[in-house]
Amino acid sequence: MNTTHSRRVIGALVAGIGLLLLSSAAAWYQPFGSGAMTYQRQNLMRDHGHAMQDLARMFEGRRAFDRDEAVRLARELEQGLGDGMLRNFAPGAVVAGSRMSPATWRQPGVVRGYAAAAQQSAAQLADALESAPSSSEVEQEGVWMTSRRMGRGRWGHLRDDLVSMDAIREYSRLNATCHSCHAFYRGPRW
Ligand code: HEC
Repeated sequence: MNTTHSRRVIGALVAGIGLLLLSSAAAWYQPFGSGAMTYQRQNLMRDHGHAMQDLARMFEGRRAFDRDEAVRLARELEQGLGDGMLRNFAPGAVVAGSRMSPATWRQPGVVRGYAAAAQQSAAQLADALESAPSSSEVEQEGVWMTSRRMGRGRWGHLRDDLVSMDAIREYSRLNATCHSCHAFYRGPRW
């Protein structure tokens, strides 16, 4: 056998294996395949994590409080929780690197409850953030100040950086629900 011939054979083999790998990769990432679903699930979760962090930064004065932006983040969370979120939680839809615990599909009712509770908190958080607390609310409940530069300087007259205690309560409740669901249904990596 001459070397040109064996090189051709090897070349064909390599190309064949390449094609095989490509087609199985395509099957892996087809819509609703486990790989695609895990990817979407983790991406959505990561977005939720960023939204929660951005809100915390605003509440703690590490980032300027922007009411519209805060409401947008809370509404985004609302949309990505509840039943909508569970579309990416199909039984068995895990690949290497996923941390979805098998308990997730053994106890769909409980998981659904967490997703629904989180969605409700996000909705109430968005509602509570929509307007600045009224003066009677401030009197009765107190108020959360997002910046310590209140009442002084050029922007002292702008009191739009006050957040109602309701919003802070809902934020903590939402945060606790995220963590409870993780405590039960986010296990070690597969
Ligand atoms: C109904 C249960 C449930 C709720 C509610 C929930 N999560 Fe998750 N979360 C999970 C599961 C399960 C995983 C693991 C997914 C995987 O690895 O396949 C996860 C993963 C994550 C991750 C890691 C994503 C990655 O990169 O792998 C972050 C961040 C996260 N969640 C944030 C949040 C935040 C923030 C909230 C609340 C706003 C929340 N989650 C609410 C079940 C939940």
